Amino acid sequence: MSTPERVKVKPDATFDDGDRELVEVDGVEVGVLRIDGEYYAVRNRCLHDCGPVADGAVGRKLVGEFVEPGKRIEKKYADDEPIISCPWHGWSYDLSSGEQLADDDLILPTYDVIVEDGVVYVDGR
Ligand code: FES
Repeated sequence: MSTPERVKVKPDATFDDGDRELVEVDGVEVGVLRIDGEYYAVRNRCLHDCGPVADGAVGRKLVGEFVEPGKRIEKKYADDEPIISCPWHGWSYDLSSGEQLADDDLILPTYDVIVEDGVVYVDGR
């Protein structure tokens, strides 16, 4: 069985910020999210215990500089680095890279999202 090139999600005009849609890409459930006008797509199967990670809370990556363990000199949230936290036990992932925030060796599969002729697609390749 071949992998589909694209899977249709829905019209861009009906995809509001904060919306999420689930689609099936080559037998795998993928969550598509729109955040601040940008699209993200991740496999909806958490690396911890297979939870529905695409249903999780979206936040921003906490960034800062640390002078010693436990002492941070600057605390801020990165505006352009949304993260998602699995609703089951809270494992969090960078939505762009799929990197698990506590262990960057763990990568949740991500997918490219294409908008063409007003329609949103997930690239299944
Ligand atoms: S199943 Fe996702 S954090 Fe446990």
